[in-house]
Amino acid sequence: MASNRHFRLYGKNVIVTGATGGLGSALVRRLILYYGCRVLGVARRQTALDALTHELSEAFRGFAADVSRREDWEALAAFAGEQGFEADVLINNAGILPRFAAFGAYSSEEIRSAMRVNAASVLYGTETFLPRFLAKEGTAIVNIASADALCPLAGTSVYSAGKAGVMAFSEALREEYRGRVYVPAVCPGFIRTGIMRHQTRNVSPLVGKFSLSPELAAKRLLRRVNAGRSRIVIGMDAHLMSGAYRIAPVLAPRLFRRVLKASRLEMFADI
Ligand SMILES: NC(=O)c1ccc[n+]([C@@H]2O[C@H](COP(=O)([O-])OP(=O)(O)OC[C@H]3O[C@@H](n4cnc5c(N)ncnc54)[C@H](OP(=O)(O)O)[C@@H]3O)[C@@H](O)[C@H]2O)c1
Repeated sequence: MASNRHFRLYGKNVIVTGATGGLGSALVRRLILYYGCRVLGVARRQTALDALTHELSEAFRGFAADVSRREDWEALAAFAGEQGFEADVLINNAGILPRFAAFGAYSSEEIRSAMRVNAASVLYGTETFLPRFLAKEGTAIVNIASADALCPLAGTSVYSAGKAGVMAFSEALREEYRGRVYVPAVCPGFIRTGIMRHQTRNVSPLVGKFSLSPELAAKRLLRRVNAGRSRIVIGMDAHLMSGAYRIAPVLAPRLFRRVLKASRLEMFADI
């Protein structure tokens, strides 16, 4: 029976959603080049998937799909079957960060879209692959949440709700299938990816100070998954948020809000 302690990534068949993004593509490269995995990468943009196929050849296959659509998961499972790709690991990594704003400033479409991509997709992926994973040894569903799931920040209500949901779901699932499917939840702090492209151009001075490169985040993340860790916190900022929230759950979000406001960055003007 697969258990956390005995779980190893080496040589596995891994599905990575959001494979073309900052963290996703770093995970894909490291899984292939360091862990000898075969990877089936999922994202909406076919051209970006083609570029990865060109770069990584045999070990990588791309499948264009929208993870927020239930039917796309069925299509993905069918594609994997046709390719003879028997997945061992699913990494639910695709995600979007709505602009920083107080809740009332979001449109219904922004709210719906963020909840579907960040939270519903994880349920759809699990629904699709869990039965297959239960029939095998050494399987895992790795869910990428966020430090916001450990300490919600003002201006990220919808993102935090989705990520906290992913965290809670992962922890319940882990216990339900303990010893059969390994379910780690990952909470990274800031990583220098394109996820903030919808914010403002001057994000880099603040984020650059304490954020991780996607490569370093992927390295730390996969090392801890390979060691069978259940709750994986990545980055100094994420540890700080997590610690502060445990000590002072009401004051910590207030303190971090002050810090964001004090930065005087335009993107935090509406929080
Ligand atoms: N960067 C950070 O600071 C940070 C911190 C904590 C947690 N995270 C989490 O880490 C994960 C990866 O984020 P990232 O920073 O690498 O973001 P990113 O660079 O913006 O990449 C996002 C990826 O998700 C894909 N994607 C978005 N919507 C999708 C959809 N509906 N269906 C399929 N694929 C979709 C994108 O590809 P297409 O556009 O081609 O679909 C892209 O490959 C996310 O879950 C994010 O919430 C990031």
